[in-house]
Amino acid sequence: MAKTITFTVQPGGSLNGQARVPGDKSISHRSIMLGSLADGVTHVKGFLEAEDALATLQAFKDMGVVIEGPKNGELTIHGVGKHGLKAPQKPLYLGNSGTSMRLLSGLLAGQAFDSILTGDKSLSGRPMKRVTDPLAQMGAVIETTEKGTAPLHIKGQDGKLKGIDYQMPMASAQVKSCLLLAGMYAEGATRVTEPAPTRDHTERMLSGFSYPVEKEGAKVTITAEGRLTAADIDVPSDISSAAFFLVGASIAPGSDIVLNHVGINPTRTGVIDILRLMGANIEILNERIVGGEPVADLHVKSAPLKGIDIPEELVPLAIDEFPVLFVAAACAEGQTRLTGAEELRVKESDRIQVMADGLQILGVDAQSTPDGMIIQGGKIGSGSVESHGDHRIAMAFSIAGLRADGKIVINDCENVNTSFPEFIEIAPALGLKLQSEQG
Ligand code: S3P
Repeated sequence: MAKTITFTVQPGGSLNGQARVPGDKSISHRSIMLGSLADGVTHVKGFLEAEDALATLQAFKDMGVVIEGPKNGELTIHGVGKHGLKAPQKPLYLGNSGTSMRLLSGLLAGQAFDSILTGDKSLSGRPMKRVTDPLAQMGAVIETTEKGTAPLHIKGQDGKLKGIDYQMPMASAQVKSCLLLAGMYAEGATRVTEPAPTRDHTERMLSGFSYPVEKEGAKVTITAEGRLTAADIDVPSDISSAAFFLVGASIAPGSDIVLNHVGINPTRTGVIDILRLMGANIEILNERIVGGEPVADLHVKSAPLKGIDIPEELVPLAIDEFPVLFVAAACAEGQTRLTGAEELRVKESDRIQVMADGLQILGVDAQSTPDGMIIQGGKIGSGSVESHGDHRIAMAFSIAGLRADGKIVINDCENVNTSFPEFIEIAPALGLKLQSEQG
């Protein structure tokens, strides 16, 4: 049986110094997918060497793509071209990674071979109908369990998909990206309209690989008329990993940190906007464009935070950062209210319930609602909380230690390795009194 990992955080301290957090997870996944389908050789720098992105990498190796690395975040992908993938000899195991499964379901639906996608317990409980329903409208044949979950048995349609005009019922970059990848193998145009802006890395990177995509307001259009040409990729640091320290430095008095080379794509910066509305002191320095993505160094100093009603339009732009934003709310003066965030219930865990339960154990007045949470800021106590195998829950409760009045123990932290294995080194180097133990 896999070893369990427990985090123990001693209370107090501040964060000081500089850090470069690892590469962006969303961009890392897409670099493997598009690099594999390109004509030519793609070099990637800054690739996230963590379990989720490595699951995507392994899946493409299983489909015959030669990929060298990763070594110090560098990869060389020998692209096989849009029609060059080979039938995998076994089910593709995607671990904890929703992005891998949802994007691959679209990409594989139009291939000349069949495939099976599987995942761990959490991924096997997550909703897949949001991708299999629109894919079925395109002519895809995908079998799920009765509940609409993985494993996904995909019967490749060998280029026989048909483009659709799809209005997404929820704001999801994974659904949008899935359909755009399927649209590369469909007859006619595939048009996807989103109800609110979501991360646009797929669109940007397709263009970076010279594949035609059209964007008109909330609608993105793609056709099968195009090829991908290899393009070098420099992956910025993941703002979703930086977020733990944006909050940590904001809430811990005496903190002053710089986070270097962070991706600040405007579809990802909701966490900065929300923290600033709460009174955080975050400066964006040295803004530049690296490989088609905006990047900057973020300078954060501690500041007294106040509770707010989080604007709903910021929710999809900060969707992965709410676990740690709830910790910020617990340290703020007054009430913070989140609404319109029911998507949080179907992430790696039910992030509304799991965070409300853990915060209550720590003595915080946190009330879950169907689509969000109401938190009264105040004191954080001590106690033992469950991460439910969710990486971002584990790291969020670690950050709470900076303002706790006693020790916090966090159980079931193995999955921090899915997105941020270096957390256990970078966080203590900045000043968090964190210890990780294998049991
Ligand atoms: C992701 C999209 C988001 C996010 C996930 C990564 C992506 O999911 O939560 O961590 O890379 O496209 P949804 O699009 O389902 O909200």
